[in-house]
Amino acid sequence: MGRAKKVVLAYSGGVDTSVCIPYLMNEWGVEEVITLAADLGQGDELEPIRKKALDSGASVSLVADVTETFVKEYGFPAIQANALYENRYPLSTALARPLIAKLLVEAAQEYGADAIAHGCTGKGNDQVRFDVAIGALNPSLKILAPAREWGFSREQTIEYGEKYGIPAPVTKKSPYSIDRNLLGMAIEAGVLEDPYAEPPEEVYQMTKAISDTPNEPEYVEIGFEKGLPVSLNGQAIDPVALVTQLNQITGNHGIGRIDMIENRLVGIKSREIYETPALLVLIQAHRDLESLTLTADVTQYKRGIEQTYSQLVYNGLWFSPLKGALDGFIANTQERVTGTVRVKLFKGSATVVGRKSDQSLYSLDWATYGEEDVFDHKAAEGFIYIWGLPTRLWSQQT
Ligand code: ARG
Repeated sequence: MGRAKKVVLAYSGGVDTSVCIPYLMNEWGVEEVITLAADLGQGDELEPIRKKALDSGASVSLVADVTETFVKEYGFPAIQANALYENRYPLSTALARPLIAKLLVEAAQEYGADAIAHGCTGKGNDQVRFDVAIGALNPSLKILAPAREWGFSREQTIEYGEKYGIPAPVTKKSPYSIDRNLLGMAIEAGVLEDPYAEPPEEVYQMTKAISDTPNEPEYVEIGFEKGLPVSLNGQAIDPVALVTQLNQITGNHGIGRIDMIENRLVGIKSREIYETPALLVLIQAHRDLESLTLTADVTQYKRGIEQTYSQLVYNGLWFSPLKGALDGFIANTQERVTGTVRVKLFKGSATVVGRKSDQSLYSLDWATYGEEDVFDHKAAEGFIYIWGLPTRLWSQQT
């Protein structure tokens, strides 16, 4: 008796996920492996990947182009949530996992599979995100993670694959572990494992080095409707095109690099390099527009919600009751977050230099120091007297 009969495997086309195919069949007695590769705008050619799965022993090789769903249903809600894990990482990798898990579960149901498999090792966050999301969507499916158990070194993995006709990678493997999609890149390993070592320029693919960026600033105008980015420089634009173009424009100014020590859910600290040019600028602009259109208490309360939201997403709880409840809160706050934000891009920094909205709560009549002032200055005295009363009483008491 094998561990499962029919398995849907999350497939990337790399050596590890390819080796999972014969491994599942020969070591774990799986009868049939169906692979699923997701196109999340990572820029890989999918046809060779589709074919490679079949060559590696898959009975069916599925490719799902979900870039638009990814941006609209995972990226944009995270922008509304101003989601930054540990105040820095905009979750580009973490957001992709629940979507892939959903596709895997749907495929398993369609093909009558009894298990889902993925190539994650036991040290990362992605295994958590896959396992938890799959369990939330269909608790009856088994989850198999060969790389969590096989204990192969890289050489052993390649050797195992060669036994089953999986060719060793022809190009010298990059020393880095890279995850990429339209929202960003995550880069680990190699020299980056020394947290004191500056990342070599070669790790960056989406952003220019400051020495190569334009010597003149560039401005972009991002239009939002109910908290969703809908236009760029005055032109209505669909989500995928918006992110693609904004990655290009902001990356060209060297914007979007992150170098951080991050706390993984499994307890270890890791050094991560990210490139998320568009996503970071969109969050920055969105947050600024909220400052103009939301009341003080909602803005401030939401900042706490955002932190919880970011942690939930990072920790694999996309499909969870608390996440659903926070979504409700966030959606409610976005009703009036409509307007335009002007951002200046120059030498690695994006600076919001203007914002406007028909729903603005900023009122010149109230804010001005000029003649138009309507603020009743005398009212301030009584307000301050009462506001400060608790501290006066406290001081009087000895
Ligand atoms: N640490 C990031 C996260 O947990 C990214 C991990 C992506 N994997 C990689 N091979 N770089 O979301």
